[in-house]
Amino acid sequence: MAKKTAKKSLKKAAAVPAKKKGGEIKLAIAGLGNCASSLVQGIYYYKDVKDDDELVPGLMHNILGGYKISDIKIVAVFDVDKRKVGKDVSEAIFEKPNCTKIFCSNIPKIGVTVKMGPILDGVADHMKNYPDDQTFLPADKKPVNIAEELKKSGADILVSYMPVGSQKATEHYAQAALDAGVGFINCMPVFICSDEKWEKKFRDRGLPCIGDDIKSQIGATITHRILSHLFAERGVTIDRSYQLNVGGNTDFLNMYGERARLKTKKVSKTEAVESQLAKRLSYDNLHIGPSDYVPFLKDNKVCFIRMEGRKFGNVPIELELRLSVEDSPNSAGCVIEAIRLLKIGLDRGVGGSLISSSAYFMKHPIQQFTDEKAREMIEEFIDGKRER
Ligand SMILES: NC(=O)c1ccc[n+]([C@@H]2O[C@H](COP(=O)([O-])OP(=O)(O)OC[C@H]3O[C@@H](n4cnc5c(N)ncnc54)[C@H](O)[C@@H]3O)[C@@H](O)[C@H]2O)c1
Repeated sequence: MAKKTAKKSLKKAAAVPAKKKGGEIKLAIAGLGNCASSLVQGIYYYKDVKDDDELVPGLMHNILGGYKISDIKIVAVFDVDKRKVGKDVSEAIFEKPNCTKIFCSNIPKIGVTVKMGPILDGVADHMKNYPDDQTFLPADKKPVNIAEELKKSGADILVSYMPVGSQKATEHYAQAALDAGVGFINCMPVFICSDEKWEKKFRDRGLPCIGDDIKSQIGATITHRILSHLFAERGVTIDRSYQLNVGGNTDFLNMYGERARLKTKKVSKTEAVESQLAKRLSYDNLHIGPSDYVPFLKDNKVCFIRMEGRKFGNVPIELELRLSVEDSPNSAGCVIEAIRLLKIGLDRGVGGSLISSSAYFMKHPIQQFTDEKAREMIEEFIDGKRER
């Protein structure tokens, strides 16, 4: 019996051969919430984009490594909400509690039905205490086997959009990607692609991954990072800073109702800014995090940044900023880029965290770089001058 298990796990760890270059990118999604809704809408909104068109807002490349946006085909989707499970993805993305702006309502039937995932720790207990329209309503259905469904669907890539704090659920989907031989993009702050143990699993299996915790196009993190870098570059000493965020979607509700779920989100967001400072600040002097749930804001996130420092002659300088963004479309363009970069990794048979893409697109990558440097590294990766 013991022999059998050892053989089985050895078989599981075998490296996945490189994928065939070009053609479709078969995409699976775990968690069809607001971010996934924006992603799916974007795939259809920009289905006719060609290389010679004006650059699509939110992208660095219209065509990336030969891949068009329309090459991305959704082949499998997993969720646990009874208003989404069993429906075609084209309908399910508009079901409550999703509340993000609809910029592409005209989506044809995709022919992919949302399948029931294992709930595990995806739905926090406190989510029961809110009106149906604002919260998750778990379906009373038997979960499918994720690895088997991924294999059946022929997926190349699984993108995870689990709610913050879903340690077990995220690990379950990451393991299913490994078992099915599928690349993994982790958009949320449970550490997989930046965790030594998990990253090694992907390296050993010859599968690329990008993570963790997506950095939006122009969101609180990138703005705070760039300003921190600017202060450091111009020789201004930063003494204190905060970044407060409020919003009215389920992402905020989930984090606001149970502070313990926030732990890794806070680490991820704080590290993303700390890494750009000339000198690290003490815990008391740097405060970053999701701060409150304001239902009427829906998917509109408002961020307040304050920075206090000293310039020449120790003379004080203060900066106050308010940023208001629709949260979910803000990350969808970055994910469309990450999907195509991951497919290049799959085509080349690269295993492990794609260092360049993770540094540019994720708040908590395996290795932090300035955003400028990370962008250069991505171009080198596309040109084949950099392995990861
Ligand atoms: N909006 C952004 O730009 C942004 C930026 C950085 C990180 N993120 C992170 O991305 C993640 C997704 O964000 P969102 O706004 O789409 O959240 P959301 O709350 O709208 O969606 C989460 C979805 O996951 C489903 N779900 C819960 N448990 C599940 C399970 N076990 N299996 C399958 N599905 C499950 C829910 O039913 C829901 O549809 C969050 O962790 C968020 O913090 C978002």
